[in-house]
Amino acid sequence: MIKAAIMGHGTVGSGVYEVFEMNADKIARVVGEPVEVKYVLDLRDFSALPYGHKFVTDFSVIENDPEVQVVAEVMGGVGAAYEFTKRCLQAGKSVCTSNKELVATRGEELLKIAEEHGVNYMFEASVGGGIPIIRPMLQCLAANEFNEICGILNGTTNYILTQMIHNGVTFEDALKQAQLNGYAEKDPTADIEGHDACRKICILADLAFGDKFDPDEVSCEGITHITLEDVANADKLGCVIKLIGRTVRCGDGTAYAYVAPHLIPKDNLLASVEDVFNAIMVNGNATGDVMFYGKGAGKLATASAVAADMLDCLEHAGRRRRIMWGDGSKHLLRPLDELQSAWYVRYRGARKELETVLPVESLAEPAEGVLVARTGRLTTAEMRSRMETLNSCGTVHAAMRIL
Ligand code: HSE
Repeated sequence: MIKAAIMGHGTVGSGVYEVFEMNADKIARVVGEPVEVKYVLDLRDFSALPYGHKFVTDFSVIENDPEVQVVAEVMGGVGAAYEFTKRCLQAGKSVCTSNKELVATRGEELLKIAEEHGVNYMFEASVGGGIPIIRPMLQCLAANEFNEICGILNGTTNYILTQMIHNGVTFEDALKQAQLNGYAEKDPTADIEGHDACRKICILADLAFGDKFDPDEVSCEGITHITLEDVANADKLGCVIKLIGRTVRCGDGTAYAYVAPHLIPKDNLLASVEDVFNAIMVNGNATGDVMFYGKGAGKLATASAVAADMLDCLEHAGRRRRIMWGDGSKHLLRPLDELQSAWYVRYRGARKELETVLPVESLAEPAEGVLVARTGRLTTAEMRSRMETLNSCGTVHAAMRIL
C-alpha cells in the first residue's frame, strides 16, 4: 500500500481526500497498487470526521515518515506552503499543488529543489482547475512555438459576470453566491481584482516562453468597476464582457502578458463560456488554435487535477518530468504600450470631442449625455493619452479592449 499525505483540508484538500476514497479502485489500477492517504495536515479540529484520526497538526510527522511518497499541498499562500513544500522535496517526496500563487512566485526555485532531490513538483491544478492545460502544453504541444494564449482563467469572476449578464444580478450579490459555492479564494480580492488570473497567465507564459513572468510586473485589472450599464452597452455592440488573461508573442521573442476585462464578440467561442467554467485558447505555430474548456474552480474538479498529478508521480516514481522554466533573466515581458486593440469607451461629455479625439467607428447615446463608442485600433499608450485629453473636457467612465 502506497502512502500519501494532504497538506490543507479546505475546499480542495477535502476534495483530494474524497477523490482518493471515491475512486480508490481506479487509482489502484492506475498506480498498480492501492494508495492510502495516511495524513491530513490542518491546524483545525476535524476529529469528528470518519477519517479524523488521520489529522496531524505537526508538519514534521509527514516530513519524517519515509513511507509517504507523495504530498498534496493545497494550503494556499506562500508562507507555510512554501516552507513545507521545500522540506517535502528535500525529504525526497514529490509535491503536487493547486497553489498558483506559490507556483507563479517561487515555481522556478521549487522545481530546482525537486530536480536536486530526484522528485517532482507538479501543478496541473494551478491553472484552469480540472482542465488539463499544463501537461498538454508541456507534452502534446511541445513541438510548437506558442504565438498566443488567451483565456478565461478565473471561475469566480466568470460566474459573477454571467450572473450580471444573464440575470441582472448585482456584482455584490453574485460575489456572495460565488463564495457560498466555494469558488472564490479565501480573500475574494484576488479573484475580483484579477490577481488570481494574473498568476495563472504568468504560469502559462512561463511555460510557453521559458522565462519567468512575474505577477508583480504584469498589468492586472479586475472587474470591480464593471457596471450593469457596461454589460447592457456591450450587449448592444454584440458582445459580452469577460475577464481575460492573455499573453502574445512578438516577432523579437518578447511577449505581452496582462489581465483585463474585454468585450468579446458573441461569435467568439470565449463568449459562450459561462458560470464557473474556464476556457483557454492556445495558438501554436504548428497546431493553430487549440481550445481547452471545463470547470476552472470548485472542489472535486480541482481535486481531480491534484490527485492525477499525484498518481503521475507514483506511476513514474524515480523519473523526473522535465519542465522548462526560466529565471526571468531573459526579460521577455514587453510593456503593454504598443499592444493594439479596438476599444469600447463610455464617456460623459460632448460628442464632438469624442469624435475628434478617438477614431470612432460606431457611436450611441444610450442615455442623455452618455456616449458609447467603439473605436478603431489604438495602442495602449495612444488610448491612455487620448483618455487624458477626454478627461480634461468630460469624463471617461469606462474603457475596455474589444477582443
Ligand atoms: N478562485 C479561483 C477561481 C479558484 O475562481 O477560478 C481556482 O483557481
